[in-house]
Amino acid sequence: MYGMVNKAVEEMVVMHHGEPVWERIKAKAGIEVDVFMSNESYPDEVTYALVAAASDILGTPAEKILEAFGEHWVLHTAQEGYGGLLRAGGKTLPEFLGNLPNFHTRVAMIFPNLQPPSFSCTDVGPSSLHLHYLTHRPGMTAFVVGLIQGLGKMFRTPVVIRIVESKAEGADHDVFHVQWSDSQR
Ligand code: HEM
Repeated sequence: MYGMVNKAVEEMVVMHHGEPVWERIKAKAGIEVDVFMSNESYPDEVTYALVAAASDILGTPAEKILEAFGEHWVLHTAQEGYGGLLRAGGKTLPEFLGNLPNFHTRVAMIFPNLQPPSFSCTDVGPSSLHLHYLTHRPGMTAFVVGLIQGLGKMFRTPVVIRIVESKAEGADHDVFHVQWSDSQR
């Protein structure tokens, strides 16, 4: 994955736990990179090793780390670095979710070697939909949950997410039931 992903993990850990904890996590993961370059590709294993080491050192399940990372990604990484892209995604949570299937097409203009996930929406109702998430990467379900929670906070829209089909449990791909209430602006 592009270095910006590992850089964002670093930012989140340093923000909440400080630099020395990050250095311990990096050492535990066996990663000797001093500075991650946003526009360079790194093996996915680097990201997985960082999450596993963070889970060990912070004593937090990997799923919780990925979930927190999803929120951080939307509320800090994306909002601070790619605000224009995010704004182009929609003005409300349901609109943004409806546009999610095309979202990474724009991202790929900045990051040409992107291997993006793919999303689709079905069962779209006035206050809920089914979000389908397809990827070749294992273990990212909790990241998606965190991303949607982050989007809910960004749009000040209370959101409830339920996993209705899980690839880890044999389904073809993950499906999330996403339900929202009125925006609280
Ligand atoms: C401006 C905002 C965003 C940018 C710049 C961005 C960029 C990226 C990048 C660089 C990766 C790593 C993939 C690679 O390097 O091959 C990635 C992965 C991913 N993105 Fe985005 N993204 C953004 C917003 C979102 C949003 C809003 C969602 C969903 C709600 C999302 C879902 C994901 C997921 C699930 C992955 C993990 C990779 C996988 O599942 O295979 N992203 N994104």
